[in-house]
Amino acid sequence: MFGKKSRILIKNQEQIEGIKAASKLAAETLKYLAQYAVPGNTTKFIDQKCAEFTHDHGAIAATKGYGHPPFPGHCCTSVNDVVCHGIPGNYELKEGDILNIDVTPILNGYYGDTCRMYPIGEISTEATNLIETTRQSLWKGIEQVRPGNRFGNIGYAITKFIQPKGFSVVFEFAGHGVGVEFHEEPQVDHNAPKDSGAIMQPGMIFTIEPMINQGKARCKIDRNDGWTARTIDGKLSAQFEHTVLVTSTGVEVLTDIGEF
Ligand code: MF3
Ligand code: CO
Ligand code: CO
Repeated sequence: MFGKKSRILIKNQEQIEGIKAASKLAAETLKYLAQYAVPGNTTKFIDQKCAEFTHDHGAIAATKGYGHPPFPGHCCTSVNDVVCHGIPGNYELKEGDILNIDVTPILNGYYGDTCRMYPIGEISTEATNLIETTRQSLWKGIEQVRPGNRFGNIGYAITKFIQPKGFSVVFEFAGHGVGVEFHEEPQVDHNAPKDSGAIMQPGMIFTIEPMINQGKARCKIDRNDGWTARTIDGKLSAQFEHTVLVTSTGVEVLTDIGEF
């Protein structure tokens, strides 16, 4: 309605170039870390490798020290029923686990944000199905990105795709504007009414990052560490995230460097 000014940044060319570079580094970090997502490695070891790679490329990790309590990792490592914000630690990955790694390097002051799933060794058919469905749901959301379309149609498309599969869309966490800061406006919900929300314009950059649960949608945050979000029913959760740019004609997926 009138009076509410949109604070969604329209990035200029210089900012777009900077965010593109940070996003590419984010994607390359996920690719580099794939070799370490194997049985026997701890999530802390993956965090160390993430820190090395990030620093060796002249960047710093946005998650380190972020929020309250300060997040301790250079990435989030979320295993099995952990929906998001898993803290790297002494947990040893084992055959059959599903792992999400979420990285957000800051390069020359600009942020790129992406996450993906890693099967640890051989995983069950059910887990594979959840992962592939989640990956596809992200692309259903990306298909809605073009100037003139409304943000709500991203979440509408994701939920419409997921519901018939019997999985549930997490509503307690959302995508977000990104690039100049870690979390900017708008909030990009993964479950939203058709034709709701702000209108997308060229130069907007944001994430789409659906978290899809095998069972119930609800999550609970670990009361000891203040971060780890788990499914309330202990069932599996999967997530993929890309940083996207609205172009004059459609979308550019800044964290997509192809399959790996
Ligand atoms: N990278 C996450 C996101 O996609 C945020 C992680 S915040 C942290 O928005 F503090 F948990 F690392
Ligand atoms: Co994000
Ligand atoms: Co992220």
